[in-house]
Amino acid sequence: MSVTHRKDGMRVASFFSGIGGFDLGFERAGFEVVFQCEIDKFCTRILKRHWAKVPRSSDIRKLAHDEIPEAEVWVGGFPCQDVSLARMGPRAGLKGKRSGLFHEFAELIGRRCPEIVVIENVPGLLSSHGGRDFEIVIRTLAKLGYGVGWRVFNSKNFGVAQSRQRVYIVGSYRNRRRAGEILFEPECGEGDFEKGGTDGEKSVSPFKRSLGDPVKGPIVQSLAYCLYACSARHTGTDWSRTYVSYPDGRVRRLMPGECEAIQGFPKDWTVPADAEENADVLDSLRYTALGNAVTVPVVGWLAKRIAQVLLRQKLADSIKAGSSRTAVVAVS
Ligand SMILES: C[S@@+](CC[C@H](N)C(=O)[O-])C[C@H]1O[C@@H](n2cnc3c(N)ncnc32)[C@H](O)[C@@H]1O
Repeated sequence: MSVTHRKDGMRVASFFSGIGGFDLGFERAGFEVVFQCEIDKFCTRILKRHWAKVPRSSDIRKLAHDEIPEAEVWVGGFPCQDVSLARMGPRAGLKGKRSGLFHEFAELIGRRCPEIVVIENVPGLLSSHGGRDFEIVIRTLAKLGYGVGWRVFNSKNFGVAQSRQRVYIVGSYRNRRRAGEILFEPECGEGDFEKGGTDGEKSVSPFKRSLGDPVKGPIVQSLAYCLYACSARHTGTDWSRTYVSYPDGRVRRLMPGECEAIQGFPKDWTVPADAEENADVLDSLRYTALGNAVTVPVVGWLAKRIAQVLLRQKLADSIKAGSSRTAVVAVS
């Protein structure tokens, strides 16, 4: 399906923008990025490189609602550290300094009431404080007037070689049905559908399937484990579950460019225009930013569905208004 349209009515404001995963996915679906908010200096350099002219602010805690340009869609994956299961230990949840930034975001949403809100986070949000944190997110949006739906998507079902589960929450202002229409496709539709299977003796873990030549090498697993934010010097075990091996026994982790690929970003997306740091430092910054990012094709899929819903609404409004002018949309 291809959707073409004029950009008015198709504007997106991005919060906790990181390296612009949401922004790129929405842009690919025909939206115009009109605002970004990101505190991290390295991420801001990447955003500047790709969206030089887009107005940008740094700290969401200091952002006034009237500084944000008009946009139909607001998107943001607030920091996940306090709800993530990767923390191994008590989770501060939405009371934490970082994940608590959700409340700042909600405050701004309440002041401006964009038509659609999309929030992304780790699946740990569903279980943090026995589910009470997730309830707070949903209730907060509902109280602000949003019909809310959510769904867990796995990146591996969107054409990238990474198993990465993330929960996506969609809110639609004063509309109870639309969030569901956006998130859930009919049985035969495109998107995040997994074929049912059994765990019989003959089934092979998708993580055990590898590509490459065992004699000449290198060998790489056909599906990577979920990327985490970590540094170039990181010696933990998470990256070592997804390594590239050579016939002489050497192994290495995925390189930043390979991480870009399994997150759906174009090659060298995370190389700043003004890269002056040494290779180790630069790699660390790239690994961290990529581990925090959304997978672009997942967001692109959602963005396309949001575009369709908004265009249908626009068409219905113009028919209702009895406008003789044809709406400037074409959906094929
Ligand atoms: C989970 S990451 C989002 C990544 C993003 N969705 C992407 O695709 O790259 C959360 C982001 O929130 C940013 N952040 C943390 N505190 C912030 C604040 N006070 N104001 C604005 N951004 C903040 C972090 O620097 C980080 O980039």
